[in-house]
Amino acid sequence: MNKITLPEKSKLLNSQFVFGVATSSFQIEGAPESRQKSIWDTFCETPGKIEDGSHGLVACEHVKYWKEDIELIQQLGVDAYRFSISWPRVIQDDGELNPEGVAFYMDLLDALIAKGIKPFVTLYHWDLPQNIENNGGWLNRETAYLFQDYVDKITTVFGDKVHAYATFNEPFCSAYLGYEIGVHAPGKTGRASGRQAAHHILLAHGLGMQVLRKNSPNSLNGIVLNFTPCYPADDSPESVKATDYANQYINHWYIKPLFHGQYPDMLSELPNFHKPDIEKDDMAIISQPMDFLGVNFYTRLTYSAPTKAGEFYTEHEHLYPRTDIGWEIYPQALTDLLTTLLADYDLPPIYITENGAAMADKMVDGVVQDDDRIEYYQSHLLALHAAMEQGVDVAGYFAWSLMDNFEWAEGYLKRFGLVYVDYTTQTRTLKNSALAYQALLNTKQEKQNRQEK
Ligand code: FCB
Repeated sequence: MNKITLPEKSKLLNSQFVFGVATSSFQIEGAPESRQKSIWDTFCETPGKIEDGSHGLVACEHVKYWKEDIELIQQLGVDAYRFSISWPRVIQDDGELNPEGVAFYMDLLDALIAKGIKPFVTLYHWDLPQNIENNGGWLNRETAYLFQDYVDKITTVFGDKVHAYATFNEPFCSAYLGYEIGVHAPGKTGRASGRQAAHHILLAHGLGMQVLRKNSPNSLNGIVLNFTPCYPADDSPESVKATDYANQYINHWYIKPLFHGQYPDMLSELPNFHKPDIEKDDMAIISQPMDFLGVNFYTRLTYSAPTKAGEFYTEHEHLYPRTDIGWEIYPQALTDLLTTLLADYDLPPIYITENGAAMADKMVDGVVQDDDRIEYYQSHLLALHAAMEQGVDVAGYFAWSLMDNFEWAEGYLKRFGLVYVDYTTQTRTLKNSALAYQALLNTKQEKQNRQEK
């Protein structure tokens, strides 16, 4: 397969629909000498944490090559670029702005705007300053207020140069992977710790939203959540019940407080020593109105009854077919997810802020023939189209990722890019999937040109 095609009348081809590519600071930037240390630096230094023993100190050297990278983005023909601001790059250890870091993002924003590419900024994509972690990180309620202060400082400078601000990327990953099962930085474990971190992150989101509305009322302000739709492994009532628990614990734990101002019912079934400390006004602060909801989608999981006392479900291995990172390819789950969210919540417009696939790419004579990735994009864009046909209001779609980069605990072993990165020379090469994405955007542009005539 070498093309991505959509039905002629698809709403995805409407001129207002936004197509973009996404990255995050720690995964691409490099240049650690001009910023504070983050929890991901420390995690990478800890033996055994990163699959290939690598680190993010160099990554794609985007701080050095950002101009070329923006050229690439423009070449793809996208409407928008989603990237994150590194808190440790723009704030010094005394809490004041770092002029060098601020100037870097300011230049980036100005260049994007000059090229007519809408900047979608994530304010927190996992790289917490290490000095804040030293005081407890997301287990310390004070961190939510430090986040608010950082958002206040940085958005005062950038204001509405930014088209859309997301407070957080995937609170589930920071809280659950980072503070509950410990496979991501800072590597802490325990249910009480995971639930407390989640609560403080949600609180920080609410505090951040208040500041965003004040400092940048003309930007779209919201959050990015990841969803892994849950399905029963079989038809038994036990599996169905376990699946409901999993869905509450990994998906609704984050969206329900934001839109309903309360945690899922399952909270009451946790023993008191696992419950987070929630103060009087917290849920009202968390459930601020938002302009958009970012949805990251990659895969689904299946569940059956727990086998151990105190647990709520058993999570199964991914089914096949899988991508190179081992995640099942199941596009129907994207349609199911979006139509279910439509039924359960009164939502603002949705942006699919991440979707994409790690594949075992090989570059042969300068060509990366990643038909498997093109197929992934094709099937997921059709799944998105189906959800929109069923009434879901989706305003945009971002491919993860612009280019191969540091894939967290997997290091450089997994390639998610539309653009191939040779890490020894930092050469970037458009994969066939990038060409297919580019061709799709051309089709959209041509349709628009025809309509304007
Ligand atoms: C998401 C992250 C993103 C990237 C993709 C593959 O969970 O937000 O940074 O690593 O997964």
